[in-house]
Amino acid sequence: MTFQAPKGTFDWIPPRSERVLAVRDALAAPLRRAGYGYVETPSFEDTELFKRGVGESTDVVSKEMYTFLDKGGRSITLRPEGTAPVVRAVLQHGLHNGQLPVKLWYSGSQYRYERAQKGRYRHFWQVGAEALGAEDPALDAELIVLAWQGYAALGLTGVRLLLNSLGDRQCRPVYRAALQEFLRGLDLDEPTRERIEINPLRVLDDKRSEVQEQLTGAPLVIDHLCGDCKAYHEEVRWLLTAAAVPYADDPRLVRGLDYYTRTTFEFVHDGLGSQSAVGGGGRYDGLSEVIGGPPLPSVGWALGVDRTILAMEAEGLLDDAADARLVDVYGVALGEEAKRRMFLLVTDLRQAGVGADMAYGSRGMKGAMKAADRSGARFALILGERDLAAEAVQVKDLTTAEQTEVPLTEVVTTLKGKLK
Ligand code: HAM
Repeated sequence: MTFQAPKGTFDWIPPRSERVLAVRDALAAPLRRAGYGYVETPSFEDTELFKRGVGESTDVVSKEMYTFLDKGGRSITLRPEGTAPVVRAVLQHGLHNGQLPVKLWYSGSQYRYERAQKGRYRHFWQVGAEALGAEDPALDAELIVLAWQGYAALGLTGVRLLLNSLGDRQCRPVYRAALQEFLRGLDLDEPTRERIEINPLRVLDDKRSEVQEQLTGAPLVIDHLCGDCKAYHEEVRWLLTAAAVPYADDPRLVRGLDYYTRTTFEFVHDGLGSQSAVGGGGRYDGLSEVIGGPPLPSVGWALGVDRTILAMEAEGLLDDAADARLVDVYGVALGEEAKRRMFLLVTDLRQAGVGADMAYGSRGMKGAMKAADRSGARFALILGERDLAAEAVQVKDLTTAEQTEVPLTEVVTTLKGKLK
């Protein structure tokens, strides 16, 4: 019997798996330059954290959580997102008692029991950033700019930014009531009618055309913002424009998690089909209090690593051949003694910072040279008994097939020079 990865999950394997690392590093680099520190939280938490933090009326909590009792009888949930865990960690360690904002970034697996399809998985990777404890439009704009720079560093040109504001605890309830009144007058099925009472904003996100047609005249949150929220939003927009980050106002943008207030945004890519959001985030001024902490107005985002790679694929930015090239030098040794010598040579090369591999097992010269070609290395080192006697090695340039003899004592320096 053989096993398959569970439904909705997949493995990242070479050469594509190199992209996961490259994407993570490219998205993290702008954050680190802006003073965000790395945080790593467990991949599971107390179930209650997500119920309260993300909200029981959301699909994520009500339908998609991987929840189980551990052997001690505690209800545990595999994290479906990283924001509630990060806020939990900040409160637990009292980071908010120091300098504010607390700026953190993270990277890791998330788990949601979703209907699996291209770009929508049950296990996926995010890079996220959170800035906690400051209410300042410049912080919202900073995070958006940093995400934008990360996408740009990957060469992506097709990412679009959608921007909205969801108001605060003053103006949102007024808007919510107005929206509910409008929605109650529509011809909707029972589950949707129930949703009007629990989470009316999510109805705006309904993808069905018979629902969308009826929503044309729905009240928009942007028209119901209080003075403070309006001014805050205008400042975020101004800063983005000044920083030359293009955005589109999307008054219908609502997010799938309950904690959002004021600024909300999504990065979308048109090469992905229906799962077009490559990243998203916003402000969550009330989340800390919801999970038992002090007021801690905060903002953050999470970018989907898997979807970012799909976007890169759609833009033709993936180069599997380049990703497959893990080493620069590949050793081919013939005979016991030569093999031992090659083992030490490869060890020395690695020590000197040169990526090197060698042929293992007992294949002949032909098989070993094929392996050298397949490795994508630039140089093969060939060591036979005659070379060994001469204390030298043949260095073959695999692109030009040119071969030179180099003394064993000089090979590390020579290769370092050639690979500069
Ligand atoms: P989210 O919009 O639920 O936000 O997820 C962020 C990104 O993760 C999405 O835009 C998408 O690229 C990726 N993603 C989500 N679900 C899946 C899935 N099933 N398969 C593949 N990729 C997926 C959050 O998670 C918030 N915690 C973001 C945030 C941080 N807000 C404030 N701070």
